[in-house]
Order: sequence, then structure tokens, then C-alpha cells
Amino acid sequence: MSSSDLVMEFSFEEAQRLDVAAREAILEAPGFGKHFTDHMVSIEWTAERGWVDARVMPYGPLVMDPASSVFHYGQEVFEGLKAYRHDDGGIYTFRPEQNARRLNTSATRLALPHLPVPTFVESLKQLVRADSDWVPAGGENSLYFRPFMIADESFLGVRSAHKVRYMVIACPVGPYFEHGIKPLSIWLSTKYSRAGRGGTGEAKCGGNYAASLLPQQEAYDNGCAQVLFTDAATNTIDELGGMNIFFVRGENTLVTPTLNGNILHGITRDSIIQLARDRGMTVEERDVTIDEWRSGVDSGQITEVFACGTAAVITPIGQLKTPDFVIGAADTEPGEVSMSLRAELTGIQHGRVEDRHGWLVRLDA
Ligand code: PLP
Ligand code: COI
Repeated sequence: MSSSDLVMEFSFEEAQRLDVAAREAILEAPGFGKHFTDHMVSIEWTAERGWVDARVMPYGPLVMDPASSVFHYGQEVFEGLKAYRHDDGGIYTFRPEQNARRLNTSATRLALPHLPVPTFVESLKQLVRADSDWVPAGGENSLYFRPFMIADESFLGVRSAHKVRYMVIACPVGPYFEHGIKPLSIWLSTKYSRAGRGGTGEAKCGGNYAASLLPQQEAYDNGCAQVLFTDAATNTIDELGGMNIFFVRGENTLVTPTLNGNILHGITRDSIIQLARDRGMTVEERDVTIDEWRSGVDSGQITEVFACGTAAVITPIGQLKTPDFVIGAADTEPGEVSMSLRAELTGIQHGRVEDRHGWLVRLDA
């Protein structure tokens, strides 16, 4: 099978499954990223043969050579998307081709190979078929897929690897933030940057998240759940450590930082822009400064702020804390626009609102 084939054939090795009662207990209160399903997907790539050996296999530890380049030079990219069980029992995912394309854009930046889009989508279908019992029913819980690609050539020379592995693992998830959709306090990182011109800011690569961990710890130390990064040169607002940001201005306008090369092209961000335009709202993608946020809240022009992403869905932001001042307040109520966009988006994803843009893809049929 070569990488030019549209959809690869997957071999299947049955796992020793977790017993039903233990699985049901996990599905009742899954948390986020703590419990993994019984199987995982693995596909290998070599420079000579392209993508080969696609498997669905028991979830478990990998045996890897300690010289594998991912351990030393961090050549890795990943994705995040969810599967939703609809009331009719069908299992659907949301805009998976967008994740597949973004994986490939990230892969280009990290000098990793492209995975054909149909193979990406098929890898999700294969995993769901093996582990369909792990997709939660009802409420807002879902199955979170974590596709990723790592360099696993044993070679310490600094160049792109000639041997790579693509994998998908999955975990049932509830809300990303333990307190649910209560407005967040976020922390402005003034000391550390996440991205700069020509860097890897818009790639979804592990290194960006590694670089965010120290400022994220600073956020926790200041009672905040997420860290906000600004452009290293211009100080305009980029995004949070793991989500994009939106401002509601005046009666009918959404403002979000433009895709400036530093920030992730969020699929939730793109979907919100579409849903807002469908409602007749004006959406401005442009530079936003901390000063605009501060004066907009003071004057009443900025009425709501929210974070968005696959994990976060839409989570209101109550306040921004900085070393010198605070904007907003922690005890605000979630805003009307944020919550109504959230209801529409989650309604589409869970099959309770009409999918008029054809965003859902069925995985189990
Ligand atoms: N920005 C960052 C840094 C992220 O990690 C994520 C999460 O994937 C997002 C934005 C939102 O992207 P998406 O809506 O595609 O999940
Ligand atoms: C996602 O939303 O899928 C992410 O990768 C972000 C991370 C905070 C879990």
C-alpha cells in the first residue's frame, strides 16, 4: 500500500477490553484526558516506502529507541477533535477534513510528511468502530481524538527524520475546565512569548505547548486558568495557551485577532465566525490591543469576551489579570451572545440543531 492510495487498509488486533462496569463508571464522569479507550491507531511512514502498516491495535505503551529524534528535537505535531453520539445512536465528528488539512500544514512547518486527508478520516472511523462503546451518550460529553505524528528515526543528526509514525488515541471527555462554563480568569504573560514572526505559532506542535507551560504555571499561581499571549514584537493579542479569543463589541459585532502567523487557525474559531455571520453579525478579524480591551470594558463597548476551541468549546472570560492591573471581574455572569453561540455550536455537534453547513461526518457507518 503506498501513500498515493486514497484509503489504506487497516489490520485489527483485538484488545483485552476494560470490563463494562469500569467503563460505565468512567463515562459517568470522564474528566478530560485521563482515561483512554481500549484501542489505538498506528501507521508508519518511511522516506522510501511512504505510509505503510496501518493498524488498529490494543492501547498501550510504545517501545521506542531512546535515540528516536522526537525525544531530542521535538519533531512532532498533533490534532484534537471530538466524536458525538447523537440521540439516534449514530456517532459523528465535526469538520474532520479541516483537522486533517491543519495536521498537514503543521507537518509542513515541522518537516514531517503529509497524511492523505481520507486516511486521516478513515483512521478516526477505524478507531470508533473498535471502541464505539466509549462514546458517551447524552449531555455534552464526547469522545476526544488525539491524532499525532512523531519522528521516530534513531539518529542524532539534526535533520528531518526518515522514519515517522502517525497515531490516534482517544478518551471520553467532559468539560475541559473543572468548573464547567463559569467565566474564566486569565493571566497576561508579559515576560514570555509563545510565538514570533517566522516561528511555529500557527503550527499545532508540541513545542508551542512546552513553551507555554511556565507562563501557564504563572497563571495558576495568580489564580488564573489560562494564559494570554501577545505578539512578541507588537504586543497585539494573539491567543490563549490552548484556545482562540473573541470579543463582543456593541450590539452586533464580534472581534477576533487576525490569523497573523502566530496563532492557530482554530476550527471552532472559523465555525463561530460563520455562525455569527449567518445571524447577521459583523465579524472583524483584526489586531486587538490590551488597551482596546481595557478601554472597551470601561466604556461598556466590549460587553463579553470568550475563549474557544475543541476542548474549551466556548468558555466565557470574566477577567484578565496582569502584573499591573485587572480588566473585568471574576464574578460576572456568562454573556448572552457567548452562550447563544455556544448553544448553537454544541447543538449542531450533538445533532440537536440543523447542520446547515454540512459540518458533520458520520463515523460509525
Ligand atoms: N489555539 C490553540 C493554541 C489551541 O491549542 C487550540 C486547540 O486546538 C485552539 C486555538 C483552537 O483550535 P480548534 O478550535 O481547532 O480546536
Ligand atoms: C484542543 O482544544 O483540542 C486542544 O488541543 C487544546 C488543549 C488545551 C487540549
